Amino acid sequence: MNEIKMQLTEKLDGAKETERQHMYMEKAKGYVETLAGKLNRTPTCCVTTFGCQMNARDSEKLAGILEKAGYRLIDDEDADFVIYNTCTVRDNANQRVYGRLGFLNSLKKKNPHKKVALCGCMMQEPSVIDKIRHSYRFVDLIFGTHNIYKFAELLVAMFESKEMIIDIWEDTDQIVEDLPIERKYPFKSGINIMFGCNNFCSYCIVPYVRGRERSRNPQDIIREIEELVADGVVEVMLLGQNVNSYGKNLDEPMTFAQLLQEVEKIEGLERIRFMTSHPKDLSDELIQVMKDSKKICRHLHLPLQSGSTRILERMNRRYTKQQYLDLALKIRKEIPDIAITTDIIVGFPGETKEDVDETIDVVQKVKYDNAFTFIYSKRTGTPAAAMEDQVPEEVVKEGFDRLLKVVQDTARERVSLLKGQTLKALVEEVNEQDEELLTGRLSNNTIVHFKGDKELVGKIVSVYLKECHGFYYIGELV
Ligand code: 5AD
Ligand code: SF4
Repeated sequence: MNEIKMQLTEKLDGAKETERQHMYMEKAKGYVETLAGKLNRTPTCCVTTFGCQMNARDSEKLAGILEKAGYRLIDDEDADFVIYNTCTVRDNANQRVYGRLGFLNSLKKKNPHKKVALCGCMMQEPSVIDKIRHSYRFVDLIFGTHNIYKFAELLVAMFESKEMIIDIWEDTDQIVEDLPIERKYPFKSGINIMFGCNNFCSYCIVPYVRGRERSRNPQDIIREIEELVADGVVEVMLLGQNVNSYGKNLDEPMTFAQLLQEVEKIEGLERIRFMTSHPKDLSDELIQVMKDSKKICRHLHLPLQSGSTRILERMNRRYTKQQYLDLALKIRKEIPDIAITTDIIVGFPGETKEDVDETIDVVQKVKYDNAFTFIYSKRTGTPAAAMEDQVPEEVVKEGFDRLLKVVQDTARERVSLLKGQTLKALVEEVNEQDEELLTGRLSNNTIVHFKGDKELVGKIVSVYLKECHGFYYIGELV
């Protein structure tokens, strides 16, 4: 099988591009109908997401387009069309994709009409494309992060070709609005407010695979949220790699705090979350807006990465241990009921036991409500990958275990402080293990399980926090 590299189509303005993609959705529908005739049933599709909230949102866009084209969305990779929306932030994400591709191949052998597509961050890496072209030749369609809005057009190209279609762009400044989206939850939704990242932390591949920072126009964001609210959404999560630098490159610049104030005004919207904040850009204005807000949730994800100033410098994070601590403790003082969560990397090149001690010191002082700890993963092309003093695996493991223990102890201590309080929870689902229980999320992101009717899913209710079980509560509906 040969492959076809798509030509870059002439760039249209956003509205024209939307129109064009809707035309391709109609065309794709024709192909899906033909397939339905052959199968004698509605063709099914499955979207599998790896990675972060941004990818989860992108997957909803892929699902929206597939449904519009006439597929029935299912949660099973036995489907007639399967797409993997991949992540490449750490190497284990890549390995998982390769592992599962073998399984997809075996399914494809049983279903001659089955199509397999790959997209997302991992596809922006040339070495990955080479590997797929040579070792996974059954894949029908590959595209990257910059041209996801062209998915309908690519689907049509896939139906019209017997060869592997590959369309990867190096970058884009295009933001295409108003394409269909199939939300996973009817009552909550992620909203992209910006794309890409300009920070180039020395370990991180994201700026290379997601491109430069681009903010959406506030009017488009507000309109999208208003439409979501009209459609039953009560909680939104504003998404960006670094939401604190939102709006800097707009024709009429605006700050993230100002955007939040606009979102707050939307009637019917009950809760606002956002992700992720870079500590170097978190302003006093934002702290004040959060403090005064009735809707912004009491949760801030503030990645630390390392507590050692020396390592932070090598990571190109552009803050010191002391600056981070001052910021975190200021936030704790201004908004005492806020939960602060973080990301930490262990084993960055050159990291010593003393550096890990510095990180542990920050964890003990900030007392995170939750922390995601990662083992450093070498990403080809990043400055850190070329650093000579990579840390041996046993040393990394020792530091990681030591840190994890402190993180878990402090998180447990923080979460237990809520015991005996009655707080509002958004009911997210019926508990998977016990159908009598509902699962809700507090404003500060803590999970609570309690007895209740499934009719309450999507509603905000008051819950008495009765028993603390480490990271979650068992509560009672009030
Ligand atoms: N190795 C390990 N963790 C990483 N992260 C980003 N790049 C790497 C890497 N090369 C982590 C950071 C970031 C989170 C999303 O992933 O902690 O905040
Ligand atoms: Fe990666 Fe740093 Fe950008 Fe976050 S801010 S996406 S860690 S480069």
